[in-house]
Amino acid sequence: MATAARPQWDQLVQSEHVHGSLYTDPAIFQAELEKIWYRTWVYVGHESEIPKANDYVMKSIGPEPVIMTRDRAGEIHLLHNRCPHRGNRVCMTEKGSARSFTCPYHGWTFANDGELRGYPFPSGYEGVDRSQLGLGRVARVASYKGFVFGSMAAEGPTLEEHLGAAKDSIDLLCMNSPEGEIELTAGFLKHKARANWKFLVENETDGYHPSFVHASIFEVAQSGIGSLYSSESTAVSRYMGNGHSENDLRPEFRKRDVPLSWFGTTADRLPDYVRRMDAAYGPEKARKILIDGTPHVMIFPNLFIAEIQIFVIQPLSVNETVQHVTALQFKGAPDLNRRLRQQTMGSVGPAGFLLADDAEMYERTQLGVQARNPEWLFLGRGKHRERTDENGYLIGDATDETPSRGIWRHYRSLMEAE
Ligand code: FES
Ligand code: FE
Repeated sequence: MATAARPQWDQLVQSEHVHGSLYTDPAIFQAELEKIWYRTWVYVGHESEIPKANDYVMKSIGPEPVIMTRDRAGEIHLLHNRCPHRGNRVCMTEKGSARSFTCPYHGWTFANDGELRGYPFPSGYEGVDRSQLGLGRVARVASYKGFVFGSMAAEGPTLEEHLGAAKDSIDLLCMNSPEGEIELTAGFLKHKARANWKFLVENETDGYHPSFVHASIFEVAQSGIGSLYSSESTAVSRYMGNGHSENDLRPEFRKRDVPLSWFGTTADRLPDYVRRMDAAYGPEKARKILIDGTPHVMIFPNLFIAEIQIFVIQPLSVNETVQHVTALQFKGAPDLNRRLRQQTMGSVGPAGFLLADDAEMYERTQLGVQARNPEWLFLGRGKHRERTDENGYLIGDATDETPSRGIWRHYRSLMEAE
C-alpha cells in the first residue's frame, strides 16, 4: 500500500485492478505532475490558433499556464507565464497579437520569444547579465501536422517516438480535409469537472458506457452511434502503446459502406465537400476516407480526438479537471465545418447532452471512490478475449477495457521511472 514517502506503484496498479487512492490522494497528484505532466510530451495547442507572426494564445501544461507565441520570424515558442523578476504573471489576456509582453508590476518587457528586452531605470542593474533574465521556456517544443506539444524535460523520447501509432491517427484525421490539414478556429468551450483527470482519460475510450450514459442523446438525435458500442458491434478497442488508446469504429462503418455515415449524414447533403475530396484524392480513395471517417483516439495524457471535436484535458488538482473543447475544422471544407460547429454546440455546448452526461459520471465516480470499501476498481472486462491486431497492438471488443489496462500499464511505468 502507499506510504507517504514513496507510493508502491506496483501495489497500487495491478493488471486488472487499480487502487481508489490513485484518484483521491493529493500526494499522488503531486507525484504525477513531476513524473507525467512536467516530463512527458503534453499537447499544448494547434498552429492554426496563432496563424500570423506575433500572435499568441494562453495555454497550459497541467495546472501551469503557458503562453504559446509565434515570433516575428514565424517560429513557435512555449513560454512560462512568470516574470523572472518577482514572479508576476506577464500575460493576462487569452489571446491576441503582441511583439512583446510587459510585466505589470515593475514594467520589465520581454520579446515574444522570451528574451528580456529591457527594464525601467536601468542604472539600478549595472553589470547585470540580461540574457539570464528572460521568460522561462518549456524545454522542448515540437509539432506534428500542426499539433504543438511541449515537454518540460530537456531529455527523453522525441515527439515522434512518443506519438508512435498515434501519428497514424493524426494522419487519418487530417486526410478528412481536402487540403490535408485541420484548423482549430471555432473557439474553445471550457468545462470544469470535480473529478480526477484520469477518470476522463480512461472514459474517452471506454466503449462500455455510451449505451447507458448517452442513451438519451442517441435517442433524441436518432443517432446510429449507440449500436457501435454494443456487445454485437464489430468495432474494436485498441491499446496503441505509450498510453494512447482508441475505439476503432471503422469495421462497423465499412460494413455499412455508406460515405459519411460516420457523421450521421449522406454525401448528397454535403456536395461541395464531397466534390473537393474527390478532386483532392480521386473518387476511389475519397470514398474510402468518407466511409472510415475520423478517429476516436485518446493521445496520452491530454489530447482526445473525438471524431468531430478535440478535447484537451487539464488537471488543476487531484479532484478538479478542466476540459477544453472545440469543433474540428477541416481546411477547405466550409459546408462540413458549419455542421461540425452546430453538432459541437448540440453535444458539448453549454446545453449539450453528451459532455454533461459524462461530466455527471466523472463527478459521481469521484464521490463514490472516496468510500472506503471496496478499495479497488476492477478493470478486467474482456481480458480473456484480448488479442493482437495485424500491427501487433492489443485489441479487445468494442466494450472491453483493453484501453484502460494499457493506460494504467503506461502510467505505472512513468511513475516508477527515476
Ligand atoms: Fe515583473 Fe517586477 S515582477 S517586473
Ligand atoms: Fe461518454
